[in-house]
Amino acid sequence: MRGRDWVQWHEDYADPSSALSQRLAAVQRQIRAYLDERPPGPVRLLSMCAGQGRDLLGVLTDHPRRHDVSGRLVELDPRLAADARASVVAAGLTGLEVREADAGESDSYAGATPADLVLACGVFGNITDLDIRQTIDFLPRLCAPGATVIWTRTREAPDLVPTVCDWFAASGFALRFLSDPSEPYGMGVHTLIDPPNPFASRKRLFTFVR
Ligand SMILES: C[S@@+](CC[C@H](N)C(=O)[O-])C[C@H]1O[C@@H](n2cnc3c(N)ncnc32)[C@H](O)[C@@H]1O
Repeated sequence: MRGRDWVQWHEDYADPSSALSQRLAAVQRQIRAYLDERPPGPVRLLSMCAGQGRDLLGVLTDHPRRHDVSGRLVELDPRLAADARASVVAAGLTGLEVREADAGESDSYAGATPADLVLACGVFGNITDLDIRQTIDFLPRLCAPGATVIWTRTREAPDLVPTVCDWFAASGFALRFLSDPSEPYGMGVHTLIDPPNPFASRKRLFTFVR
């Protein structure tokens, strides 16, 4: 099956009034707030299915904590990974790596864990409910103690956002922020309150079905 053209999908970002641009701004606000509140010291980041990395990189270009940050953006499409890499280089973010790899394979995160901030934006709307659950269950294996996860999921019916929140709770996370249901996107911010689990290699987390 031929998959979706993800380069074309990114074109909606050109319109600042699009729902996608509104979602991006909301995610960036949460990333900025996270970095603003983070105590001094290194911050390790992971982004699953990072695309062009607009969420993270849009914040890090001018954030005072930008040089405390290291981590990995995982993106399968070579053109989008190249865009993200070019933005990382242009912003002088020497601690960040863009890996062209399958974010649904746990091995793609090997050596980049435990992360303090994990982004799963534009993932949960493109995989099965079973894979969402499985991915959330795996997140404590990617996380440092007290890590934050920012995720998105469409509010289109059937709205799975409340269920996703329940799954985060069942996997040891507390809800910190949830976008208002009137917004044209769903976004949640969760913090790991249970102890993290050890990283596990060779695990399948999800497969895109779109
Ligand atoms: C909905 S977009 C989200 C992009 C970005 N996170 C954002 O919010 O702007 C989904 C992204 O996942 C990428 N992708 C699809 N399957 C993937 C996989 N198995 N591993 C890594 N990236 C994947 C696509 O190329 C696309 O860039």
